[in-house]
Amino acid sequence: MSEIKKIAILTGGGDCPGLNPVIRAVVKTAIEKYGLEVVGIKNGYHGLYHKDFIELGLSAVEEIISEGGTILGSSNKDNLFKYPVRDENNKIVRSEDGSIKYHDVSDIAVQNLKDAGIDALFILGGDGTLTSGRDFARKGVNVIGIPKTIDNDLACTDYTFGFDTAIGVITDALDRIRTTGKSHHRVMVAEIMGRGAGWLTLHGGIAGAADVILIPEIPYDINKVIAKIEKDIKNGKDFTIIAAAEGAHPVGGGQFVNEIVETSPDAIRLGGIAKAVAKEIEYALSDYEIEARSNILGHIQRGGSPTGHDRVLSTRYGYAAVELAMQGKFGNMVTLNGDKIVHASLEDVIGQKTKNVNPDSELIQVARAMGICFGD
Ligand code: F6P
Repeated sequence: MSEIKKIAILTGGGDCPGLNPVIRAVVKTAIEKYGLEVVGIKNGYHGLYHKDFIELGLSAVEEIISEGGTILGSSNKDNLFKYPVRDENNKIVRSEDGSIKYHDVSDIAVQNLKDAGIDALFILGGDGTLTSGRDFARKGVNVIGIPKTIDNDLACTDYTFGFDTAIGVITDALDRIRTTGKSHHRVMVAEIMGRGAGWLTLHGGIAGAADVILIPEIPYDINKVIAKIEKDIKNGKDFTIIAAAEGAHPVGGGQFVNEIVETSPDAIRLGGIAKAVAKEIEYALSDYEIEARSNILGHIQRGGSPTGHDRVLSTRYGYAAVELAMQGKFGNMVTLNGDKIVHASLEDVIGQKTKNVNPDSELIQVARAMGICFGD
């Protein structure tokens, strides 16, 4: 048993359904099973740097299992190992060539934890947040990671929490989009989140009966997509649903970049595939007088109440994380392997590439058997 008396919880990166159920499970297990003191860190690493800590008692987590987002707040632009230098007015300082000046403020964060008497830090995050988690573990902080992201792209775990809820939202969105597709005999293209991974689009596309699924792992040829639609038209089908991952790209082409934001650690914001694909299809099929429309599902996919499945997974992760800490097994992330909660070292999780869809996997074969075209 480790000598843990006080723990802290931090939620970083994009918000995600399931964060609050994890916080609740950690707090309840820590207090009721082990009599620990629990502190919440506000707004991710921003709060760790600015010592923005709050006490987390049982009453704070009583009603939160059904709430989306995070009661602690989050931030995806506070990498304390590469933190923008700021002047006395809190304005970013630039070098003469215009580039942002950075410095490493992680020691201040470590000192803040020591000053507050915190023995272990529970970090709920995706690969960006957990990369810093690994780096804090390297500095001797007792870190436990918990895998959060709707994208499901973290290595070493079968599923992250938040993914199931997002699939539900995407499925519902495609069902609704199909209404217009069917009524107006249109091609409807939905742009789905997921960064460089196609998990959301593949699962959501199958569940929402998409005719075409475009994912980053299978570069597409737009002519193959057009040929599929033409074939369907000839067979009497007069509408098409296309699920397009924001990170998908044509054969030999790059991803669609919406904007580049220099001040963000995630500088490249993807976006634009749905509009581009819809335009190409409408142009190619203009003699059939077919209209195409694009829909960006956006942050709706990340919002709202977690599903029952995500609440259970989050609760299991939160409980297992406290157990791991009490066994002194720091520098690890709790993971799901089949139906078992186990753990993997943060070095392995971050050292590996993010987890991608295998184009030869069973689920892709299933989708193809359903007549779904991947544009290949
Ligand atoms: O990683 C989760 C995610 O929702 C991605 O799917 C998406 O590309 C990104 O975050 C969007 O981030 P932001 O909220 O910064 O626009």
